[in-house]
Amino acid sequence: FQVKLDASDIEKGIYPHYMLKEIDEQPFVIRKIVSKYQDGNGDLIIDPNIRNSMKEADRIYLIACGTSYHAGLVGKQLIEKIAEIPVETHIASEFLYNRPILSKNPLFIFISQSGETADSRGVLVAIKQLGYPTLTITNVPGSTLSREANFTLLTHAGPEIAVASTKAYTAQIAVLAILAFDSAHAKGIKQEINPFHELSIAANAMDIMINKKEMMEENVWKYLNASRTCFFIGRSMDYYACLEGALKLKEISYIQAEGFAGGELKHGTIALIEEGTPVIALLTQSHIRGNIRSNVQEVLARGAHVCMISMEGMEEKHDQIVLPAIHEHLTPLVSVIPLQLIAYYAAVYRGCDVDKPRNLAKSVTVE
Ligand code: AGP
Repeated sequence: FQVKLDASDIEKGIYPHYMLKEIDEQPFVIRKIVSKYQDGNGDLIIDPNIRNSMKEADRIYLIACGTSYHAGLVGKQLIEKIAEIPVETHIASEFLYNRPILSKNPLFIFISQSGETADSRGVLVAIKQLGYPTLTITNVPGSTLSREANFTLLTHAGPEIAVASTKAYTAQIAVLAILAFDSAHAKGIKQEINPFHELSIAANAMDIMINKKEMMEENVWKYLNASRTCFFIGRSMDYYACLEGALKLKEISYIQAEGFAGGELKHGTIALIEEGTPVIALLTQSHIRGNIRSNVQEVLARGAHVCMISMEGMEEKHDQIVLPAIHEHLTPLVSVIPLQLIAYYAAVYRGCDVDKPRNLAKSVTVE
């Protein structure tokens, strides 16, 4: 199959790199997803077969790699908290050779921008042989993972050319949120919020952060340019966004980076913090605001250079970046924007090939 690419999709236009263009496209993509998944009355449009499969599942297994795996970690929180269905998120290559004990009525959801990742497909083939239902969330209609799964949900992000995934990640989270809300609705779980309204608010917040690019550029220059390593700390949803921020920085600027749970610092990693070590801290989850603030104090006391990214309502005077407030379940949609931009500017400053980083392919079609 050949994905038909519109000229506008594959041209950089005014952009120096596809990655920057695709970062900028994210709010538009979220709004497009909102329009694709709701009908004229504002109701959710999800294939009834998918709705039933979610309803019948006693446990959901999210299977993915890399950035899509990070979206799957967010997806676990969304589906558990909104639809009250137990979820496990697995790295495909681990699941393939180290399969956990499965529940009686599992549903397997494969998250893949390309729909061609060999590790994920390997799991799909094995799971189909066991006769379990499968759903693929992908950006490429007609891709292998889409054709071979029972069902497909498209992310409608348009062709993602840069090797480093950005708009596909936020699109995956948006579709996972819609799926979670649809399942909650089908199960009769009362929702106090409208998913489309919350996603539209998130898209506006993403726009605001994208228009503050120079803040990220300045922070990179101050903290990262000469650095050999960088730590991203957060808890809960912020931890998952930190994993994605670290991967972005590693894969395009070649700076060693680690995203980790703030509470884990004292169990070993804090030994690495020394004078001038860059630490990017995320705070968007109100229930752990005190905890991450104390983690920040711990690294500051050891000489770290901290870039604090907080959310309106939880900010403090010296926080470098403050995000517009959005629903706590959706915060990675907006917290990832500064992380993507910090990685982008670090790569540009270091003269790296932003769109085609060394050693990497856009789609890993070999195990
Ligand atoms: C993300 O920036 C990387 N390019 C990589 O981790 C990617 O997310 C991973 O290879 C999975 O690809 P997929 O979503 O196409 O399956």
